[in-house]
Amino acid sequence: MSLIEAAAAVREHAHAPYSGFKVGAALRSVEGRVHVGCNVENVAYPEGTCAEAGAIAAMIAAGDRRIGEVAVIADSPAPVPPCGGCRQKLAEFAGGEVVVTMATTEGATLSLTVAELLPGAFDAGFMVKAETAAP
Ligand code: THU
Repeated sequence: MSLIEAAAAVREHAHAPYSGFKVGAALRSVEGRVHVGCNVENVAYPEGTCAEAGAIAAMIAAGDRRIGEVAVIADSPAPVPPCGGCRQKLAEFAGGEVVVTMATTEGATLSLTVAELLPGAFDAGFMVKAETAAP
């Protein structure tokens, strides 16, 4: 199964009664396993979570630590891009060169790197002068 197929399969499990917009995400970790997530909305709207966040949580919970490749899919007019917050979340575990393939359920795709999606990213390098540096 391709990464896009894995994202499409988990998308079917999305809980999106408020937006009606189901999203699926799949990550292949550097360690070699595939982890998936879907959006999980909440009646208290800000408590909802994105598909990418779910896939990242699944990867970390499974014991893998680095993202090697990403796929995201939705039924959208153009390949669905990760939201700003998810771009930052991806950058926590992915190098700038990691490819994110965005897809529509009708088969259109667009691939961009994490660095292209999040230019000028804030990272731990900016914190070197802090008294307690990030690990
Ligand atoms: N959503 C995602 O899960 N990932 C994205 O990349 C874009 C947006 C979700 C959040 C919310 O449940 C719905 O799509 C509408 O914003």
